[in-house]
Amino acid sequence: MPAPAQTLLLFGATGDLSRRMLLPSLFGLDADGLLPKDLCIFATARTETDDAGFRETAKTALEPIMKDRKLDRDVLDRFLARIHYVPADASKPETLQRLGEAVGSRRDQGVAIFLSTAPSLFEPTIAGLEQAGLAGPETRLALEKPLGQDLASSMEINDAVARVFPESRTFRIDHYLGKETVQNLLALRFGNILFEPLWNATAIEHVQITVSETVGLEGRTSYFDDMGSLRDMVQNHMLQLLALVAMEAPAQFTATAIRDEKVKVLRSLRKLDAAKESVIGQYTAGAVGAQPVPGYLDELGKPSGTETFVAVKAHVDNWRWQGVPFYLRTGKRLPSRKSEIVIQFKPVPHSMFEGRGAVLQPNRLVISIQPEENVTLTMMSKVPGLDRDGIRLREVPLQIGMDNAFADVRRRIAYERLLLDLIEGEPTLFVRRDEVEAQWEFIDAIREGWTLNSMSPRNYPAGTWGPAAAIALTERDGVTWND
Ligand code: BG6
Repeated sequence: MPAPAQTLLLFGATGDLSRRMLLPSLFGLDADGLLPKDLCIFATARTETDDAGFRETAKTALEPIMKDRKLDRDVLDRFLARIHYVPADASKPETLQRLGEAVGSRRDQGVAIFLSTAPSLFEPTIAGLEQAGLAGPETRLALEKPLGQDLASSMEINDAVARVFPESRTFRIDHYLGKETVQNLLALRFGNILFEPLWNATAIEHVQITVSETVGLEGRTSYFDDMGSLRDMVQNHMLQLLALVAMEAPAQFTATAIRDEKVKVLRSLRKLDAAKESVIGQYTAGAVGAQPVPGYLDELGKPSGTETFVAVKAHVDNWRWQGVPFYLRTGKRLPSRKSEIVIQFKPVPHSMFEGRGAVLQPNRLVISIQPEENVTLTMMSKVPGLDRDGIRLREVPLQIGMDNAFADVRRRIAYERLLLDLIEGEPTLFVRRDEVEAQWEFIDAIREGWTLNSMSPRNYPAGTWGPAAAIALTERDGVTWND
């Protein structure tokens, strides 16, 4: 691994992601003494302000964490002293000269660059970085989504990046990979002998992946209305989850070995029959958690055919997964916020209890990513008793609650992990170009299917689990969503 970068450039520093996630993450890392001792952070955005002005903005964003973690004022002051602000207009490459001058000779000690800007600014920013001497072999570049709107635009961005930053120095962010329980999937699957022999079409009946949100547009109207749920959530986070669930065992814990296995899965995704295997929805007015909320079109203020809910039945066409459907669904304004993976096992081949009146339920493994982080395996167990009227068996959960099992370890924001890995040059939890492009290929084909079949979103009232057709999508196969 390269030496840790001694300089971090934060583009889009006054933006929402920076204030909500990036600055708090960097602060959290600093408070724990995890940042390189001399790390200097250059924040940049179009806003005309100076070090003092930006530090005020940062302070406001960090105060809640200070309180939460009961940190001393000098921890905050030490962090703020690391930050300098250099205004730049990323759409005008020449304005990045000042940033180059500010970084000066520090560039030789490694520079990590984080682009949290609109993708339309990626190209000019990269040109500006090159002109300012900030693209040399000691620099690495992290890019936030969306990396394009389809395969063609994603390839265009990737080509523009690749002209200046080779793949080994390009770090594409999918913040789901920074989540602890997502990484724990690797531990669960490949750190235990228990599951792997059963982790295939012989023993697994289907897989469900749900990422449900209670929020609506959250002010990101034009971004979301351009993207829709399929491209906002399935193209990246959900396909990454699917890849981690479905991939073969990598031989080593290395960026290449893990990403090689993930991309094989992504390339094995069967082209969907959009009309039969996908459902799209858009929320209308309703209530979430007893709070009345407006419909999507009212929030947006104009007509729109964008989906705020999508469910698909996907297939991984390889030996391991032949005949095992992967049901994916995500949406805004659903009844609860949860991200979870359900592995539904098949029934036992023969039940010896049948003649004694007991009904067996097949085993089910539920991996909850958020808000709770836990892993639950439901198993059949005998109800205590003398069994004079027949044997009674019941499902009981075998549960690992991460909060209890690791009560002494602080749960970190996904971006803490990703920013530290970027600074240290560790690429395993970043998405490689071939993965992103395989993801887009699958997604583009679904969207083509929607157009071909003239599909438009069906309404669902806010606070429900999407349109009725999403329920029918699984019920047809005798499967019920795990609500
Ligand atoms: C982002 C999407 O990538 O992920 C948002 O753009 C979504 O629309 C968010 O709300 C969900 O992230 P998390 O970590 O809250 O599940």
